[in-house]
Amino acid sequence: MNTCFKNGEILKDTAGNVLHAHGGCILQANDVFYWYGENRTGNRYVSVYKSTDLVNWEFVRDALTTEGKTAEHRVKTDLRLLNEDGGKINIERPKVIYNKKTGKYVMWMHVENGKDYRLAACGIATADTPDGEFTYHGCFNPFGYMSRDCTLFVDDDETAYFISSSRDNADMHIYRLTDDYMNTECLISKLWQGEYREAPALVKHQNRYYMLTSYCTGWAPNQCKYAVADKIDGKWSTLCNIGDETTYRTQPAFLLKLTGEKEQTFYFSDRWNAKDYNDSRYVVLPLEFDRNGAPVLNYTDEVRF
Ligand code: DGJ
Repeated sequence: MNTCFKNGEILKDTAGNVLHAHGGCILQANDVFYWYGENRTGNRYVSVYKSTDLVNWEFVRDALTTEGKTAEHRVKTDLRLLNEDGGKINIERPKVIYNKKTGKYVMWMHVENGKDYRLAACGIATADTPDGEFTYHGCFNPFGYMSRDCTLFVDDDETAYFISSSRDNADMHIYRLTDDYMNTECLISKLWQGEYREAPALVKHQNRYYMLTSYCTGWAPNQCKYAVADKIDGKWSTLCNIGDETTYRTQPAFLLKLTGEKEQTFYFSDRWNAKDYNDSRYVVLPLEFDRNGAPVLNYTDEVRF
């Protein structure tokens, strides 16, 4: 049993296998945390693990593989889970949210053809349970726009938003989703034009919205910046530095807000290994807020939840 989360070390699941959930997200369903993320080994695209303490993770299943189920959907433009040469496509940054109205677990992800980054599409998959196999609904370019690094955010009123890097990563777009979370309803913001922000991660803290993003330097870490807004579809601040110049050699994956007795947000990040993707590690840090409401990220070797 692990008692804390050790940053930058090889993370193994409860069966002793290396945990692959890169660029992912954590969804809480009742008292169980589900960690979905990229798994590029074998025929896998997305794997899911579960935990009740955020420290010991049990492998649940591969949520999406090359042999995944596919279903028709009105927004799909490409339903293939393999490219035209029969090779793997590239699925990055899967995020999963629960839709209370439809009872579906809905995954959005970044999809490429496995050869280059020119497709710049987002993909959707759904499951009936958080530990179920996801059905792929295809990928598309929202309103024709490029869409690469991405995240999802569900507001208190259950309105969901898809945030993704567009125009060859130059601009960050925020889209409001349809009520079933299966399509983009409206492009509501084009943020930080020409500033090349990637790896968006959002959290709502004391009624303000905070977005962390990295700069665009491939797999190499860089300075994370945050911005804040009073309304997600309103005016966002300019970008301010957070953490050190390489964000402690990490790139944001997602922000996990724990509520209850002690509210605390955690910064989950990837420490990519550019030479050996499968040796990429995870770094989790508490995200604090100073008395002016500015988020603060300090490094610590290990984290207790
Ligand atoms: C940085 C992105 O954040 C990652 O998800 C991945 O797309 C790499 N770039 C690829 O270079």
